Amino acid sequence: MLDIVNISAGYGSLNAIQNISLSIPDGSKLGVFGHNGAGKTTLMRCIIGAHVPSQGEVRWHGEALPKGDVPATVKKGIAYVPQGHNVFPTLSVEKNLRIAGSLFGEEFLDEIYKLFPVLFERRSQRAGSMSGGEQQMLALGMALMTHPKWLLLDEPSTGLAPVIVRNVMDGLRDVNKRFGTGIIVVEQNVPATLKLVDHAIIIKSGQIVFNGTTAELNDKKDLWEWF
Ligand SMILES: Nc1ncnc2c1ncn2[C@@H]1O[C@H](COP(=O)(O)OP(=O)(O)OP(=O)(O)O)[C@@H](O)[C@H]1O
Ligand SMILES: [Mg+2]
Repeated sequence: MLDIVNISAGYGSLNAIQNISLSIPDGSKLGVFGHNGAGKTTLMRCIIGAHVPSQGEVRWHGEALPKGDVPATVKKGIAYVPQGHNVFPTLSVEKNLRIAGSLFGEEFLDEIYKLFPVLFERRSQRAGSMSGGEQQMLALGMALMTHPKWLLLDEPSTGLAPVIVRNVMDGLRDVNKRFGTGIIVVEQNVPATLKLVDHAIIIKSGQIVFNGTTAELNDKKDLWEWF
């Protein structure tokens, strides 16, 4: 179980999220929805250790995760694909994957290539010359090279054509099924994400206003149709 315990966080005098508590079973898939500026990225950054909350902590299997320490959190088995593309553009696809896996061994490379055959086809290509969708898959592959138990993704479908969005969602479903990796995905594309996740939260002005199953959220179409 990953437990987010009463987290508040902000920037200077601005409170971005307040008293967020949430328990997510290992291996489950959670969608995080909400308007621009609602606090979704701030919550992800608190979990991965890129932002220190003013209050509260994140626990995994009952043990508090290190606050404000991304490398230590990644070593514990939590990976993060931030908003926007995050690859080394001048290096080849394969070099990007090898660098991402350097702490953990590179034997996982073949698994990534099986999951995303396009990365194998393009392994010698400069990452910066790949399309937006291909770069998103590479960013996902790089996160998977750290053998995560939890994979956090911040708006992985932004800027992608619908068919590529489906590829990314299918890839995430495969990762979850094959490796039991838990997935927490922030998305504006609610309909596509609801096909992937089993639970969802909606954050409004820094607070959770919905926390339930995908089926429950599907019944409240009026609630998520604004996103
Ligand atoms: N580095 C920062 N410095 C100051 N304020 C920030 C910073 N990052 C975020 N904020 C503010 O904190 C609030 C929450 O931002 P956050 O990025 O978490 O929202 P979000 O839900 O991810 O939005 P979006 O959907 O646009 O990505 C916003 O009001 C934002 O302006
Ligand atoms: Mg954001």
